[in-house]
Amino acid sequence: MASGEKQDIETRLASGLLGHWYVIGKSVQVKKGKPHAVTALGRNLVLWRESGGAVHCLEDYCPHRGARLSRGEINADNISCRYHGVTLDGSGTIVRVPAMPGCALEGRKAVQSYAVIEANEGIYAYFPSSERPNPSALNLPEEFSDPAWSSILCMGRWECSYRFVYDNFADPMHACYLHADSFTLAFGAKQDVMRVEPRADGFHIARLEQKDVNLDWTHVVVDGSQVYCRLDIPYPAAAGPGGPFRIIGYATPVDDSSCMVFFWRFRQVSGIARQSWRFLYRARLEARHWHVLEQDREMLINIPRDAHKREMLYQHDVGVARMRRMLAQQALT
Ligand code: FES
Ligand SMILES: [Fe+2]
Repeated sequence: MASGEKQDIETRLASGLLGHWYVIGKSVQVKKGKPHAVTALGRNLVLWRESGGAVHCLEDYCPHRGARLSRGEINADNISCRYHGVTLDGSGTIVRVPAMPGCALEGRKAVQSYAVIEANEGIYAYFPSSERPNPSALNLPEEFSDPAWSSILCMGRWECSYRFVYDNFADPMHACYLHADSFTLAFGAKQDVMRVEPRADGFHIARLEQKDVNLDWTHVVVDGSQVYCRLDIPYPAAAGPGGPFRIIGYATPVDDSSCMVFFWRFRQVSGIARQSWRFLYRARLEARHWHVLEQDREMLINIPRDAHKREMLYQHDVGVARMRRMLAQQALT
């Protein structure tokens, strides 16, 4: 690969691949009647919910003189800038210049709008690329539409590249070391061999000798429209019905050195067991899960940004290597 091409891939990956969907917030953050500001892929965005419930997303920039639209207010289904009242609809078109009725700016599409999908308590937005200006079809994780699964979404902001988060997902072997003091993550052997298997929508990285004892595998989805990871944390019988604790994780770049992380936590429980799991989760398990995530966060934010230049990878890093290769391939499409 020519060094120019390598640099091109690096630039595209650093702040986030365009032509992809990203999770940019939780549904509860976008309340009716109130703009919500978020930064993703180096862009300031404003979200709001119209009266019918649909969520809109625009560049957080007033086309009049550049004020933040997120400082404004929602009028009917539109957003009005606080500075002089210029009002835009969800397509980014100026619908009203209240200080000067009939102004020629009315009817002009003035700022970029982003396609939004709201699913399972999360909000996804599509970031177009010049090659793929229109939103691609988004295949949401199958757990979202399977009523057997009950889920809770949590999010955080980590001061590291989103790529470190995906490296971490593609490296199940870290669990029995980094999280050795945590609930079930202490279980199992501390040595193994890792194996990567290609899948139609990405790849599967798994320990060879151990299954369903610890965090023993990750399914990485890189399907051309999104990137996410699926993994199971086995729970002992004492944790009640529902089998393993499943996690669907996304990392969304804020910029080249920070990201938002989103974790859907699932269990297969129904009826009263579902209610009691949700209660138990909120009351006791969530704190434990945050404790584990904090170990990941603390480790990742202290890895130098340029660590890849002097890494010494070994066999267990086959998943990390595959992850990076797949992301680089996406940057070329
Ligand atoms: S800057 Fe927004 S209305 Fe003037
Ligand atoms: Fe971890």
